[in-house]
Amino acid sequence: MKSKVAVSIYVFNFLEVGNKIEELVQAGVDWIHVDIMDGNFVNNYALCQKFCQDIKAKYPNILIDAHLMCIEPQRYIESFANAKTDNFNFHYEAVTNKNEANILQIIQDIKANKMKAVIAINPETNPQVLKPFLDQVDGVMCMSIKPGFNGQQLNDMVYDNIIWLAEYKKVNNLNFFIQVDGGVRENTYLKLKQSGAEVLVVGAFVNVPNNELKTQINKIEN
Ligand code: DX5
Ligand code: ZN
Repeated sequence: MKSKVAVSIYVFNFLEVGNKIEELVQAGVDWIHVDIMDGNFVNNYALCQKFCQDIKAKYPNILIDAHLMCIEPQRYIESFANAKTDNFNFHYEAVTNKNEANILQIIQDIKANKMKAVIAINPETNPQVLKPFLDQVDGVMCMSIKPGFNGQQLNDMVYDNIIWLAEYKKVNNLNFFIQVDGGVRENTYLKLKQSGAEVLVVGAFVNVPNNELKTQINKIEN
């Protein structure tokens, strides 16, 4: 089964990240996952709108998947749209007012700003809370780790979350893509794909010498 690779550039040495992106593009990667952390929703900081904009300026055909680990993500919709972000990927847990109408409004605003709306959930969040939004979002991202830090081991709960979403999508004939982020490794990627993950965010998995990059990408995409 084919899946798509989205590379999390946060895992690379920042002094080398420009070269790394070039290597990734040469190897055929066309989704770049940019981790945004506000030091509040998670106990860490990372990246920003300017980063998305700078990548897009150099590589207009690359899809920028901004993963906002930020409280009240709706505050940033416009600025990420201005930075030419493609996917606005926000956490359900980070929205304080979880009223259905409020979350639907956020999704509408993202789309009105010409971005794809992707809603993310932590491994412990029951995906069924997303039911009211699944015919509206473009994608759902299942975290398989606690957000905020790369290099963690995958939490097994993610498999059931993916399986439930894949089944719900099929039964209801919906179009959202299913994405997974964190802990994609040699011993996890196959089961994630088999469970129904269509986009796999990879960090450590592709933090390899340039000549091994294609092999790693092929494992997921072919
Ligand atoms: C963590 C980030 C992930 C992370 C993935 O908060 O959302 O994108 O960088 O790294 P790996 O694939 O190494 O677990
Ligand atoms: Zn991420």
